[in-house]
Amino acid sequence: MTEWRPRVAIIGTGGIAHVHVRMIRDLGGELVAVCGRTLGAASAFGHADPYDDPARMLRERAPEVVHVCSPHHLHAEHSIAALAAGAHVLCEKPMATKLDDGLRMIDAAARAGRTGAIAYTYRGYPLIEVLRSKLAADHFGNLRRVGGCYLSQDVFAADKYVWMFSPGTTGDSYVLMDLGVHWLDLVEFVTRQRIVEITAQLSTHQPERIWRGAPGEGREPPGSRTEDGGVRVRHGLEEQADLLIRLSNGAAGSATISGVSPGHPNTIALSIDGSERGADWNQQDPNVWIERSATGNTTIQRSPDALPQHLAWMSKLPSGHAEGYADAFRNVVFQSWAAMRGGHFGYPSFADGLRGLRLIDAALRSAADRRPVSVGD
Ligand SMILES: NC(=O)c1ccc[n+]([C@@H]2O[C@H](COP(=O)([O-])OP(=O)(O)OC[C@H]3O[C@@H](n4cnc5c(N)ncnc54)[C@H](O)[C@@H]3O)[C@@H](O)[C@H]2O)c1
Repeated sequence: MTEWRPRVAIIGTGGIAHVHVRMIRDLGGELVAVCGRTLGAASAFGHADPYDDPARMLRERAPEVVHVCSPHHLHAEHSIAALAAGAHVLCEKPMATKLDDGLRMIDAAARAGRTGAIAYTYRGYPLIEVLRSKLAADHFGNLRRVGGCYLSQDVFAADKYVWMFSPGTTGDSYVLMDLGVHWLDLVEFVTRQRIVEITAQLSTHQPERIWRGAPGEGREPPGSRTEDGGVRVRHGLEEQADLLIRLSNGAAGSATISGVSPGHPNTIALSIDGSERGADWNQQDPNVWIERSATGNTTIQRSPDALPQHLAWMSKLPSGHAEGYADAFRNVVFQSWAAMRGGHFGYPSFADGLRGLRLIDAALRSAADRRPVSVGD
């Protein structure tokens, strides 16, 4: 797909870092180093030379690209260090935990003359691009409604703990930062409209969770000791967010974002109503979309031929053969690397990352004040 075979380093050695390894290799990158919280973690991760000090890794290995896969609150620190060392950055979402950190990352990229990309991986589905181009071509008529959901069962188990419940790791939100940010990005990306107003209601269903030190739970948080050696943590973070949104063209819609929905491993749904037709798409069945009209609905298969010419590279398998998450993920890494090389591909940028933080900030303020909140640029 690309002639560029950059020297790449990864910071963070958890679940998503393994996916990045696969994408880097698929695209012909050379993975030169991996930096974990400890040398043991980086060694156990494998794949490349292990480090536990990002500064040393950047100095010694001089990667051209750094993929930042550490926990949310470290994205800014790790990205800014990589940019200052002359690397381009592909940073995991959410961009940061605070708006100020997002702004500092944008400033660091500008000062370094390097590209900052955000791993909004769901943008990489070909059918997302199909819906986007059909909306732009007024295929659905005037856009009236955008709705949907992001439902998962990530933290459904009664006392399930993840590091995002540890103070300081995720800002003031759990589910919007972890899942909602993807849905909000998809809405603005697909519609090319801004969300100008948000009304949010947040729910915390399981305010007490137990840390046991399992993978994904992070370091021991403050809390009270349980009889079996765990740590009982009380937190005020939302596991469910219900959002009402208004778009810049006047369209309106709603979504539920939840990490406690049994039987939903990763349901991301996007539903569009226009004045002529409607559309539905679901990430768990990403090779089809439903076109709705007042006289009946049609299920339409992904087909490379349906993509605009300049996006034909996104979908290589013939229609009727499943493409999926890994293909979408690889597409976003490819777009981001192409942008780093000065190519003219669209890609999810640091500006898009900051946008996600602004939308979440507005949602949190709305929920706190129990009122609609306007979203600035
Ligand atoms: N784009 C997506 O769809 C997607 C999917 C999953 C995760 N993510 C994002 O990726 C990031 C990591 O998530 P994950 O699921 O891999 O979590 P994880 O808990 O599996 O991994 C986090 C890793 O970071 C390591 N770490 C902690 N402190 C560190 C430090 N100081 N230096 C280096 N490494 C450190 C931990 O040891 C752990 O290995 C999160 O921000 C998450 O939101 C994005």
